[in-house]
This record gives sequence, structure tokens and C-alpha cells, in this order.
Amino acid sequence: MTKRFANENFPPEIQEKAERMNTDESKVPFYELPGLPVSDHISGSEFQTRIRSRIIAAFEKYMYGIVPPRCEELVFETTSEGMAFNGLALRREVDIICRHNGMERILHMLTYLPCNAGKKVPVFFGLNFKGNHGITHDPGVTFHAFERYAPVNPDSRRQADDRLDESGRGGVAGRWDVENVLKRGYAVATICYFDIYPDVPAGFEKSIMRMYYTPEQWNSPERDTGAISAWVWGIQRGLDYLETVPEIDSQKIAVHGHSRLGKTALWAGAVDQRIALTVSNCSGTCGAKLCHRHFGEDFEWIHYWNSHWFRTDFEQYICRDLEFPIDQHMLMAAIAPRLLYVASGSLDEYADPRGEFEAAVAASPAWRISGGSGIGTTTFPECGKLVGSEIGYYLRRGEHDFTPENWKVLMDFADTRLK
Ligand code: GCU
Repeated sequence: MTKRFANENFPPEIQEKAERMNTDESKVPFYELPGLPVSDHISGSEFQTRIRSRIIAAFEKYMYGIVPPRCEELVFETTSEGMAFNGLALRREVDIICRHNGMERILHMLTYLPCNAGKKVPVFFGLNFKGNHGITHDPGVTFHAFERYAPVNPDSRRQADDRLDESGRGGVAGRWDVENVLKRGYAVATICYFDIYPDVPAGFEKSIMRMYYTPEQWNSPERDTGAISAWVWGIQRGLDYLETVPEIDSQKIAVHGHSRLGKTALWAGAVDQRIALTVSNCSGTCGAKLCHRHFGEDFEWIHYWNSHWFRTDFEQYICRDLEFPIDQHMLMAAIAPRLLYVASGSLDEYADPRGEFEAAVAASPAWRISGGSGIGTTTFPECGKLVGSEIGYYLRRGEHDFTPENWKVLMDFADTRLK
């Protein structure tokens, strides 16, 4: 291990951790998944009332922790409006002002609404890594100035604040493909995840979690949540706003995310039934991939770099992945019978494409009890072939990324099921 980190010269104690991960398919030991609590005797509605909440409680208890409740006061303030992309869409920027416990946090949301739709439109909403101005070259997007967090470890490209400065406008436009999404009749919405919880170990003070926890509570071994749950909270405030937008069909909200934000999208999809379509792209460990399959990134590695993503006591499962009482197929099941879409990159072995697919297969009974078929196959598909029914699965040839090809296939899936 590992191709993805081959260029980094780790000191021996970190390299040792890297070596403990497996990327050899022939070395995957036999594994059994914790059972999905569904059977022929359970109806879809019983699943919704009894089982789903148990699954959510288990993920709160073992992995992501609690998503705080809605804040006491929420105000939506439109800060700019204008035409974009030669009249293709209206750009509207909104401050989502969150007040709680005498404190305030502002989430800056960027939305594009296709013009001349003639009816309410579905929306793709996702958090972004690098700032709203990074997702498109549209010069009208406000650049929100920020103070950059100093790197914790200058030798590592992780644990870093790599938001784009103003000159980086459009820096990740390829990952968003905004114009094509609008042309196909979808609205676009995004918030930078740093607005919600700055993704660095010292992120707490400026995060929304500060409105709910004291620094003492946050730094204690009893911390019962982490940054992924904070980002889910931010997605929920975004949903609170999107539900009020007259141009948007609030029954057709898709929430998407790549990598750590794919993990976040899955957790959001599980806890919030307003999300009609949940999209996980290359979400890997603690996302779509099964932890009981010993392949790719493990708990030790993810926790070493990103302990702030999880509740504190998740660390007890380091090097004990196979003993983890739950697995990610259960998280997916909590999304049923709503739509789920999982995409992997064939060369993204670290995120274990096959483990992501197997999780979707193992989650499928949760759709079957409501008369659906879930992913509808047990055969790992070849690259470039979309499979599935209420769960879509797509293996793109290539690395860890979210590309225009991903958007095209995702919208093909959404066109027939969400629209
Ligand atoms: C790290 C982390 C992964 C995560 C990825 C990302 O590599 O270990 O689990 O998916 O960051 O979010 O880019």
C-alpha cells in the first residue's frame, strides 16, 4: 500500500500503519456482515417506524455521533441575484444565518435556478471543499474572504485548509459541471463545508458545533459527535432553505458528495427523509465501503488523519474493524425506500470499489420489502455500465474523482427516477 500515497515519504511509524492495509484481492479474508434487521415478516412501513431509527441510533453510537437539532433561529437573507451563463440560469446567493445559544454562524449558499423551466425543478445540492467560487468560472459568484488555518503538519497534504483564494475561481469546475447540470433542467446548490465545520483539527471554535458544545465538552473523551455530523447539520439547514424556494420542487432534492463529503451525504440521507436521492461518490471508508471486508483504507488510517470527523470513542475500533458491530450496508438501508446512487473509480482501490458495490447488494433487502429491488444484481459490473434500480451503481474507469462522466450518468439515472 498504497498507490495513492506512494509519493509521500512517511516516517516509519506511519508507514507501518499504511502497510497494515490490504489492496490484494486474494488476501481478503472470509467475512460475515452484521445482519440487516429485515425479513419477510417485516413490512416496509414497519421498517420505517422501528428499524430505521435503530440503525440511525447505532451509527450515532459507534461512528458519526449525534447530529445536533435545528438551531433556535434561522434567517435566510438573499445577498445577490443575477443572470448567469448567458441567460441559462438565475444565480441567487443566500446567507443562511443560524443563531443558537447566544451565538451565530453564517452559511453562504450559492444557487443556480434554470430559466424558462416552466415548472418547479429538481435540485442537486452538495457541499464543496474549496469555496463556492471554486465550482464555476462564473465571475458573479461572491468570493468570501477567509483566514487560512496554518497546516498542522507541513509535510502532509492532508489535515490542510486548501480552500481556493480569489484567483482560484473555477478551480474545481470540472467536478461540478454546473452548466451541463442546468442545461438538463436541474437547479444547483452548494455551501462550502468550512462554513459549517472547518476541516482541520482546530476547526471546532468556528464551527456550528460551538453553538452546542463547550470547548471542554469537545475536547473530552465523552465527545459524542464529530465533524461529519456537523456537515450533515449544515446540509439540513441548506434543506430548510431549499424547501422555501418557489422554483424548486422540494420533493426532488438530491444531495451529493465526493469522498469525505460522500460519507457525509450518506449519513445525511439516512437521517433526513427530505432527501429524495442520496449520491455517494468515491466515499470509501465510513462511507459506502464495507469495513468487514479487509481491503483499502482501514479505521486506523482514517482515524489517524481525521479523528475530528468522528465521536471520540470510535477510536476503540482501531485495528478491530472486523469486530465493528455494524457496517455500511445498514447505513444505506436507512435510506430505503428513497433513491440511492453509489459511484466508484476503478483505480480508487483505497476506497474499495468492490466493497462499495457489495454494501449496496447487502442493503438491497431494505428496498425489496417495499416492493423494489435495490441494486437488483449481485454481479460486480464492468466499468462504464450503470446498473441498478432504486440503488444505482456506477464504476467509472479511473481514479478518485468526480468527473463530467459521473455527472452525465448520474443525471441519466435521475432523469428516469427523480424527474
Ligand atoms: C482521506 C481519507 C478518506 C477520504 C479522503 C477525502 O484520504 O482518509 O477516507 O475519503 O481523505 O475525503 O478526500
